[in-house]
Amino acid sequence: MNKLLYLLIFIAFSVFVSCGTKENKSSNNDVNSTNTTTETQDPKMNKGIGPITSLILDETIDSVMVKKGKDVFDAKCTACHKVDKTYIGPSPKGILERRSPEFVMNMILNPEKMIAENELTKQMVAEFNGAIMANQNLTEEEARAVLEYFRTL
Ligand code: HEC
Repeated sequence: MNKLLYLLIFIAFSVFVSCGTKENKSSNNDVNSTNTTTETQDPKMNKGIGPITSLILDETIDSVMVKKGKDVFDAKCTACHKVDKTYIGPSPKGILERRSPEFVMNMILNPEKMIAENELTKQMVAEFNGAIMANQNLTEEEARAVLEYFRTL
């Protein structure tokens, strides 16, 4: 009688353990597939890493900001970026067709962390033969103006 009881407990325990393992496995898979979607499948969903978590652009372009952004870009970015061609870094022309506004701002304001941790930026570093975007210490307002200028290119 005792033996039968032990056997029943053993069976109940085994079923319990195997169910638990299955559940863990499937929830891990779910997490992985979510990451793939945001990080690689649609690059424009990627907001990057940095101070800007949400930015909705106005439909009309602000020409005062554009002028200021061009001045900042010409002074601090053209050592590595040219508008009309790939240089040490990529051309910013049409950048919002492949990157979110948040991503662009975070890359300008926080390139060190983007290069170390963002999958899309890591791919770019490889593409640009290991050249590293330098932090130009722009204020958030200057970075926003540069982004507005990029919208006109
Ligand atoms: C020392 C060279 C250098 C300077 C200066 C520089 N960048 Fe970059 N930038 C790069 C490189 C190289 C990349 C590609 C990623 C990498 O390899 O780090 C890049 C990438 C970027 C990206 C992301 C492009 C994409 O498609 O993901 C943006 C946006 C950008 N730079 C904006 C700027 C702005 C704005 C300035 C001026 C404030 C600037 N950069 C100054 C070298 C530079």
